[in-house]
Amino acid sequence: MHAPGPSADEVQDILSVGLRVPDHGKIAPWRFVIIEGEDQARFGAALADLYTAEKPDAGKLELQSLRDFATAAPTLIAVLSRVNEARTIPRWEQELSAGAACQNMLLAGHAMGYHGQWLSGWPAYGEGVVDLLGGEAGDKIAGYLFFGTVDAELSERPRPAVEEISWRLP
Ligand SMILES: Cc1cc2nc3c(=O)[nH]c(=O)nc-3n(C[C@H](O)[C@H](O)[C@H](O)COP(=O)(O)O)c2cc1C
Repeated sequence: MHAPGPSADEVQDILSVGLRVPDHGKIAPWRFVIIEGEDQARFGAALADLYTAEKPDAGKLELQSLRDFATAAPTLIAVLSRVNEARTIPRWEQELSAGAACQNMLLAGHAMGYHGQWLSGWPAYGEGVVDLLGGEAGDKIAGYLFFGTVDAELSERPRPAVEEISWRLP
């Protein structure tokens, strides 16, 4: 994805839509980390360092793919799932709320005319990445949301038919 991406005001709007999600118990069990501009190359380099620490035999291409990940779109938003264990609301529900935040932000970006994509991969699970993002111990990375512009007409991927994945109460 290339420029233009969302403006600073539009990023604020995307975040506002992201936090306007179902949230059982008013816990706000998510945090959003904006990675833009020069921070993207810095983030990519740090990801490559963490990956090398975990896999000392990492090849150049693997490391380059992490740098490319961080710079793949004009705006990158990392979404952290931050479950409050002290509350009685089940972890599952708090984690679902983080997923809903991701989807809301993608829809907001699309509604503004940008392309958006939700990705994970090693940057979502690698040792030390939560810390790199400024998160707390126990945070999980729900994913990375990429926003920008694409030139190509994107083709739809195969989807199941509605009747394959739904039924009336047996
Ligand atoms: C939590 C999560 C993580 C994902 N991670 C990846 C990923 O790392 N790589 C990938 O190709 N698609 C990933 N996807 C799927 C894409 O977000 C997306 O569905 C796919 O690129 C097709 O785009 P579309 O659903 O808008 O048609 C992930 C989806 C979710 C919900």
